[in-house]
Amino acid sequence: MAIRLRRRLSTGETRPWTFREIVQGKPLEHPSHPMFVHFPVAFYVGTLGLDVLSKVGTFPAAPVATTWLLLGAFAASLVAVTTGLVDRAMTRPGSKVRKAVNQHMYLQLVTAVLFVANFIIRWPDRHLAEAKPLWLILDVIGVGTLLLGQYLGGILVYVIGLRVGESGPGSSPPEA
Ligand code: HEM
Repeated sequence: MAIRLRRRLSTGETRPWTFREIVQGKPLEHPSHPMFVHFPVAFYVGTLGLDVLSKVGTFPAAPVATTWLLLGAFAASLVAVTTGLVDRAMTRPGSKVRKAVNQHMYLQLVTAVLFVANFIIRWPDRHLAEAKPLWLILDVIGVGTLLLGQYLGGILVYVIGLRVGESGPGSSPPEA
């Protein structure tokens, strides 16, 4: 693993990284966003899993556990949103790439709003032994928009090639 402590300019000179470049993961030579996205994804899907478990099994602590899991998901989403937004800022407004990033972003934001509503609804009943049907419905819709957003995130990387090969030999970033 290589960590570049300073940015090397085309002139051969070096300078310190800007804060934005650090958030983008430039010192690591790859984007930071993919490093952080797994946490909200796992926590949102884990919430659905625990809610199902509380219904089909005997796990009375599951509903209160999901309350903490959702708080973790929101904290992790903040990091994912921040690192995603700095990469979005590199794309040209009105371009096809910016539109694709926006579609991905809107779905992730809808997911977050759905789970925030879910959290507010479940909070007064968090010590129940079983998930309520409305929680499960919101979980399923939220995980659905999450997965669709992940799919579009994959298109950004594996089809459009956004931020792919920025540091590799002989490669260049795609037209934004
Ligand atoms: C809401 C603001 C967000 C913006 C503007 C945004 C933007 C981006 C961009 C530009 C990429 C392309 C790759 C890169 O730059 O690293 C990307 C990929 C991706 N994003 Fe986001 N994102 C946001 C939020 C999220 C959230 C909250 C999650 C997870 C819950 C997420 C999951 C992903 C995934 C899974 C990929 C594909 C990564 C890969 O397969 O390597 N994004 N996103």
